[in-house]
Amino acid sequence: MAEKTEKCSPENGRYYQKERLKHSPDEEARLEREHFWRIIDAYRYYRIHVQEMVKRAERQFLSLPKSHQSLLPSVLTNLARVSECASCNDEVLQAIVDNSIHMFENIEYGERDDPRRRPSTTFDLDKLKSTIKQFVRDWSEAGRAERDTCYRPIIQEIQRLFPSDKYDVSTVSVLVPGAGLGRLAWEIAHLGYICQGNEWSFYMLFSSNFVLNRCEKVNCLTLYPWIHQFSNNKKSSDQTRAIQFPDVNPQSLPPTADFSMVAGDFVEVYTETDSWDCVATCFFIDTAHNVIEYIETIWKILKPGGVWINLGPLLYHFENMANELSVELSYEDVKAAIVKFGFQIEVEKESVQTTYTENERSMLRYVYDCVFFVARKPGDKLCNGFKEQGFPPAAKTARREDINYST
Ligand SMILES: C[S@@+](CC[C@H](N)C(=O)[O-])C[C@H]1O[C@@H](n2cnc3c(N)ncnc32)[C@H](O)[C@@H]1O
Repeated sequence: MAEKTEKCSPENGRYYQKERLKHSPDEEARLEREHFWRIIDAYRYYRIHVQEMVKRAERQFLSLPKSHQSLLPSVLTNLARVSECASCNDEVLQAIVDNSIHMFENIEYGERDDPRRRPSTTFDLDKLKSTIKQFVRDWSEAGRAERDTCYRPIIQEIQRLFPSDKYDVSTVSVLVPGAGLGRLAWEIAHLGYICQGNEWSFYMLFSSNFVLNRCEKVNCLTLYPWIHQFSNNKKSSDQTRAIQFPDVNPQSLPPTADFSMVAGDFVEVYTETDSWDCVATCFFIDTAHNVIEYIETIWKILKPGGVWINLGPLLYHFENMANELSVELSYEDVKAAIVKFGFQIEVEKESVQTTYTENERSMLRYVYDCVFFVARKPGDKLCNGFKEQGFPPAAKTARREDINYST
């Protein structure tokens, strides 16, 4: 245990894994281990996968008539460059894997049951490629504009509602469910608030652990996030352009900062009533099978007088997924349910335009017309009787990776 504590910088993102109890404990442990190693395998298979993409593109090009090939003198050079960039990405991904195997303070995943390695699925590799793009959003200078539209309104609202001249912010607790690579939660902790990120996906957890606990120098690492995009490039060099990360030193939290990350399903991990002063959700509520269950959980875990700050669209993640519960409600219906729970909506903006892991040079770009709101659970017990956050028990459903917002 002492060794594991040392492996995670205590001031900068302690990682805990929640147990899940649906099958027998042994079966649960086996399923979780299998899932863990499947995601590790995807990180390890990445380079082969991109080399195969490149080889296929080369074969296609070489199948053209020589007269056509001669009109396109730089295509093979660009493909060779994509291959080099994939090797650079792979170095970062293997460093992430090396730091993931023992990352949880309270669980070990042992050895894989079946040590044979198989090619990863397209689904898993797509998740991994999205995770690479998430580094742009959360930890690069290139993602600053996107963070300004998504995270800044939430942070400003926290500072407005819990100003440091009226509150001892080190006693104000903020939960960020669906924390992704952790930048929003880190920024909140950086301002002195108690902040806990919660995340379900191992892709995100492995990568956030790496950036939060292993990166110490600004812009010390390079990724090529756009090499997997073969369409909608204006210039070939757009595909192979680099980003550096992290744009800030993640270790630069104040020594007194209280920042942690908890792995597991939000609704199953957070069951303790009246625990949080603030819940901040960004591009999260539509990850629910049943968004009402999220609202119910937020209502329950907020202290009386606590606030829920939300920004995001309603791109329901389980829509069109076979055998998955998915209730796709309009914002009108979601809002009506929020009010019926008893929340008082204090701020509401129905049109906040944002992007999500946007490739700003792509010929295809999505804009989300997000809703932003602040909803208060009535009462007056804010920040009273602050106690150490417990880590409540037991996710109960099978771990699942969800769909992507990005193009
Ligand atoms: C679209 S991403 C948003 C990430 C981050 N908030 C941001 O704005 O960049 C949604 C995140 O929620 C996570 N997630 C989905 N369902 C979850 C659940 N039930 N509990 C915790 N995290 C969950 C996903 O793994 C994913 O990282």
